Amino acid sequence: MNERANDRVVIFDTTLRDGEQAPGCSMTLREKLRVATALRDLKVDVIEAGFAAASPGDFEAVAAIAAEIEGPVICSLARCHPDDIEKAAKAVAPARRSRVHVFVATSEIHRKYKLEMAKDEIIKRAADAVRMAREVCDDVEFSPEDASRTEPAYLAEVVAAVIEAGAQTVNIPDTVGYTVPGEFAELFDYLRQHVPGVERTVLSVHCHNDLGMAVANSLAAVSAGARQVECTINGIGERAGNCSLEEIVMALKTRAEYFGIGTGIDTRKLYPTSRLVAQITGMHVPRNKAIVGENAFAHEAGIHQHGMLKHASTYEIMRPEDVGLSKSNLILGKHSGRHAFRERVGQLGFTPNDAELNRAFEAFKELADRKKELFDADIEAIIMNAEGDDRGPWIMEALHTSTGTGAPATGSVHLRHEDGRAVEEAAVGDGPVEAAFKAIERATGIEPELKNFEVHGVTVGDDAQGEVTVTLEYNGRSYRGNGISTDIVEAGARAFLEVINRICRRQAAGAADDPDKPAGKVATI
Ligand code: KIV
Ligand code: ZN
Repeated sequence: MNERANDRVVIFDTTLRDGEQAPGCSMTLREKLRVATALRDLKVDVIEAGFAAASPGDFEAVAAIAAEIEGPVICSLARCHPDDIEKAAKAVAPARRSRVHVFVATSEIHRKYKLEMAKDEIIKRAADAVRMAREVCDDVEFSPEDASRTEPAYLAEVVAAVIEAGAQTVNIPDTVGYTVPGEFAELFDYLRQHVPGVERTVLSVHCHNDLGMAVANSLAAVSAGARQVECTINGIGERAGNCSLEEIVMALKTRAEYFGIGTGIDTRKLYPTSRLVAQITGMHVPRNKAIVGENAFAHEAGIHQHGMLKHASTYEIMRPEDVGLSKSNLILGKHSGRHAFRERVGQLGFTPNDAELNRAFEAFKELADRKKELFDADIEAIIMNAEGDDRGPWIMEALHTSTGTGAPATGSVHLRHEDGRAVEEAAVGDGPVEAAFKAIERATGIEPELKNFEVHGVTVGDDAQGEVTVTLEYNGRSYRGNGISTDIVEAGARAFLEVINRICRRQAAGAADDPDKPAGKVATI
């Protein structure tokens, strides 16, 4: 890594570790593999695949990514404990290039209240951990947690000790999103001037977004010599999130003349990767989000449109196609054939296999019967719902609901099981969504508890599709499902049935090697 870090900024993606730590963002093993595949295609340099010692599920996910994803360095986080380091090294061992990332907090607040350790003890623990990690892995990164609130002179001592112990990358986290760009650049300047051996290491930056400055602070660090940026897709992460990958990458690309250094990212994959992560985590991207928000390239004001028509650069600093947004946001309809559909899907950056494409084309035809115009967002929603081979065993053949004022809503479903059974059930509820869910529960015999129900408009207009994300709990385990339709009750029922299907597959497969099992967490970071 070190030699490459001289001529470009190393992109260290932590969507699957710090991103996944965000409330409601936990992913199943299957979902993690899909995200890791997309990150590989995006050409990130390092994937932090998880925190192997956090739980057996996390270990399994890191190990599976290390075994299956070729290209990026695969990394696992570890506390400065022998057991954590051993597990991290073992989990990443199948990768062609692997890294262990050890961390311990260094700020006074953490020393006093969390660790109850003296400065010297922490330095010793950090250096011992790095040495131990180097014995089991060639590539070792160290992070002094809460670095931005650590006394600079003490931080310099810690960094010098871990470089001496063999850390090739030293990451400087703004763990609580407290710093500001000028101050953070000064800290990097200080470290570069005061740490013996700093020229032998890659300085890295890891910013949280509590004050909305994670990207700005990361850019300031790059200007001051950082050559690795830790970031996440859509900026997901603890609390207000992490530095957003798409924003930092496009800032470096768009202002290349200012920063004088770029990344190896295939920026045309940014948009599809963002959509994938949003869909899997259920964390929707705000319409006005920089780079990947729906409005990021939409020009509404007449004067802007006039300028755009004359010359795009009047109001556009990036080309939509450079981030993977196809230029035309229009329009397939019911007369469009499979060929046009396939081409559009490819232009949007998706590469479904034949079965997925067939399923998506069927859904497209069905939707085109109901909706006048199909926009790119419709196509994306269809394709993402068709991806993966996690179908069935239950298929919804029909759903009817009725509702009105002063009377309970009713719902009836007709489901078919892959073993050939056909089941019809009806139920009443407080509204049509509840009635449909109860009917599905009766038909399948599975009664999960609804924890969250969110509706998101895929496009605008009165025939727009709604995407429903449900979070359900069953036997102490949390599941998330998505469904799309122009009818939000149907979208909700599809999302609900997706979860029931996951529960059925889990029951059929047995819990031990369940790819749908969300990884557990530890409470220490
Ligand atoms: O925010 C943080 O300090 C972290 C470290 C573990 C790198 O995520
Ligand atoms: Zn973090």
